[in-house]
Amino acid sequence: MGTYLGIDIGTSGTKTIAIDEKGEILASASAEYPCSVPRPLWSEQDPEEWWKAVVKTVHSVLDQIGEHGPEVRAIGLSGQMHGSVFLDEKDRVLRPAILWNDQRTGEECRQIEEMAGGRENLIQMAANPALTGFTAPKILWLRNHEPENFDKMKKVLLPKDEIRRRLTGEYATDVSDASGMLLLDIRKRNWSKKLLSLLDLDESLLGKVYESEEITGQLTQEAADLLGLSSRCLVVGGAGDCAAGAVGNGIVRPGILSTSIGTSGVMFVHSDEVKIDPLGRVHTFCHAVRNKWHLMGVNLSSGGSLQWFKNSLCPELLREAREKSAEIYDLLAEEAEKTPPGAEGLFFLPYLSGERTPLADPDARGAFIGLTLAHHRGHLVRALMEGVIYSMRESLEIFRSENIPVNEIRVSGGGSKSPLWRQMQADIFAQDVHRINSEEGPALGVALLAAVGTGEFTSIEEACAAAISLRDTISPQSENSDFYNRAFPVYQNFYHQLKDSFQKIKNFNLERLISD
Ligand code: XUL
Repeated sequence: MGTYLGIDIGTSGTKTIAIDEKGEILASASAEYPCSVPRPLWSEQDPEEWWKAVVKTVHSVLDQIGEHGPEVRAIGLSGQMHGSVFLDEKDRVLRPAILWNDQRTGEECRQIEEMAGGRENLIQMAANPALTGFTAPKILWLRNHEPENFDKMKKVLLPKDEIRRRLTGEYATDVSDASGMLLLDIRKRNWSKKLLSLLDLDESLLGKVYESEEITGQLTQEAADLLGLSSRCLVVGGAGDCAAGAVGNGIVRPGILSTSIGTSGVMFVHSDEVKIDPLGRVHTFCHAVRNKWHLMGVNLSSGGSLQWFKNSLCPELLREAREKSAEIYDLLAEEAEKTPPGAEGLFFLPYLSGERTPLADPDARGAFIGLTLAHHRGHLVRALMEGVIYSMRESLEIFRSENIPVNEIRVSGGGSKSPLWRQMQADIFAQDVHRINSEEGPALGVALLAAVGTGEFTSIEEACAAAISLRDTISPQSENSDFYNRAFPVYQNFYHQLKDSFQKIKNFNLERLISD
């Protein structure tokens, strides 16, 4: 009998949960932190904020369980993928971490393709193209733009692996998160000597790669004392938040797709073998399940778009929500629900951080298109929510066109708590969508991995079968689906019509920066 913790270092905050030996959730806590945008399309965070949030949420969870609860046997770590924590020889953080939704590395991506002998060669070698969010381009950016920091750098760690270092003193990662660095041999599930040598990077910069349920170390006495845990507590490999979320949704066999609306929007399918999109539109990464892989499409501003709207454009509604002790997202959804599907001709392009799937365009920009005097805030919210789901449908279309079976869709993430956003997913995907019994996603996924790693379950599949079941089904409303089927190509076309203008806007930015 034991307790297991799952810690998810997200972009808007950290969530920690505790589960018992059957996978039942005992306690949950979260703590938020800011994200800094020092320039348009840049995105950074201070790793110290993650650590403070880990300490706070672990304490809160332990308080909820009470001192008589069974000892915490192991911890699983999950986190935002791709972010780069650069450390010097004394493990000091050299600069703020550059995050997954930062777009500064367009030039480095071009360099990587060139060093690899072209985009197609790179996709064959790395199973993926060079995308601005991935970690290798960030390392090259440091070499090109901050050589003094590059020379001092002794290690580069992913966000959850920086937390692992502070918990255990080990430099380690897991196969799913490592996949997003563009330095892993996805087939062999270990660092690619070939890629490292092409990019002239030393393997000593990287942590040791583990499978997700493998034990990577145990708490140092210092961390154990600080957190109120035993130094016998183990830390397993864990997973990047996408694979962790998939485990937490039971996506551990083919045929099921999970959608997740967090800051990003993720469409995730399991694969028994390495399948690569020759056009590089969706990613092929190692799954958190041993010898399994996954494909996924990622949209950079999904829940993030609504969060931006709420924070930047709704100060008086924020006040009203606080006064009424209401949830502002519910108030916004109420306004949106009063408007018809299609928001009377209004569209939103959710490219507030550029876009990844399927555009791979760091310079794409967000837009409302079709505004008239008849539109009010409810229309804007509806159009925004629809735009986010259209962007996720792009990935579904790619999976469908590549004959990847999608027999069941499970919705998850903060955004899917909204009944309106769940119904829109059913309507826009034109397929039933299901909710499972838990909303804890990545944190639950890695707590289950911790339980598997210590032998509580014999496999990840067994852990998922014990902890996860379907809760309800939302079916598409055929009239709405018909409408969205006609509106989707209109949405898709806008990007192609605006692409050149986005480039011009980028150049305006650069001119300003140079003249400043
Ligand atoms: C995945 C990705 C995002 C982050 C967000 O490739 O970039 O989903 O992991 O947390």
